[in-house]
Amino acid sequence: MTDELAPLLPALQDAGKNSLLVADENLAEGLAAVPDGQTVLTNRRDLADQAERRGLPCHFCDFDFSSWPAHSLDAIAYRISKEKAVVHHIANSAAQRLVPGGRLVLTGAKDEGIKTYAKTIGVLFGDKAVLEKQGKLYRVTARLASSRRTASPLDDRDYKRLRKILCIDGKPVYSKPGLFGWDKEDAGSALLAGHLPDFFAARFAVWRRQPIRLLDLGCGYGYLSLQAAALGIKDITATDNCAAALLACQHNFREHGIAGRVSASDAGDRLGGSFETIVCNPPFHQGFARSGGLTDKFLNATRRLLAPGGRALFVVNSFIPLETLAQRRFAHIATPVRTGKFKLVELG
Ligand SMILES: C[S@@+](CC[C@H](N)C(=O)[O-])C[C@H]1O[C@@H](n2cnc3c(N)ncnc32)[C@H](O)[C@@H]1O
Repeated sequence: MTDELAPLLPALQDAGKNSLLVADENLAEGLAAVPDGQTVLTNRRDLADQAERRGLPCHFCDFDFSSWPAHSLDAIAYRISKEKAVVHHIANSAAQRLVPGGRLVLTGAKDEGIKTYAKTIGVLFGDKAVLEKQGKLYRVTARLASSRRTASPLDDRDYKRLRKILCIDGKPVYSKPGLFGWDKEDAGSALLAGHLPDFFAARFAVWRRQPIRLLDLGCGYGYLSLQAAALGIKDITATDNCAAALLACQHNFREHGIAGRVSASDAGDRLGGSFETIVCNPPFHQGFARSGGLTDKFLNATRRLLAPGGRALFVVNSFIPLETLAQRRFAHIATPVRTGKFKLVELG
């Protein structure tokens, strides 16, 4: 049993069917130790797949609580997320969905802000939350007071709202809290985008035509897809593990008139077919933790999904030995651009 899940289980077991486990990528060990029959709400496709394999009732969405009527749940358990807006959204939703006296139980580490959440959620719930040390983590138990004065919701940065964050090709690009780097243009992705004209021109020189099919692997709000579409790429598939990313990407495809596909997958595992170009800024962190395994997963997916003679373009931090990791899988490995912080690696 994991450090993260173990402190959450008693509350879930006490509440039985009337409880909800909220899970994102920070529940790193997954759902193996979750009791049979436990309902799970998750924004990650890989966790939803695990839940489905276990036969657990599961809602895969951007932490949308609308399936539960107001004041209907006895307990909600949650290993806290990295982004404050997400934690506040879950706490605000819990205050609406729990019965009076119902419990929100959280786990997290001191440097993840768990002590501050204990205070702020205590105020929201109208009763002081209990903080207990549990191994390396803390557990917070907040009980919704029966006669609580109306406390203002915690600032969740208007969690559900898609908002304009930048323009590509003169058109607005939308994003929202809950997805990677949601309120900015990532410097690594911008480097990759700046090299796309050369990347496509090199393909044109070999194929005597513009590349047609492109896969954006780990698409986020669709930044790389939108840049490729602005350069005339017509057939774009974008995929991500995160429900918030998929919502934003779908919206951006509609706004930019891209007739592409946006689909949920764990590093492309649900995709078939093959793509003559793949662009990717692979995740380096899984929530709070660094994850080298994700790089391998993304390289394996690229190997499987790249068409014969196709080319993939990755951007990674300079210190990641992507070229070495790629060696067993690809015959062509080149590093056309290096800056102090990032490098672009071409694979084929
Ligand atoms: C560094 S971000 C890049 C986002 C986007 N391509 C951009 O350039 O702005 C990595 C993306 O990979 C996604 N991701 C993380 N793990 C994943 C997985 N197992 N399968 C698919 N996507 C994943 C994250 O949700 C995030 O959107």
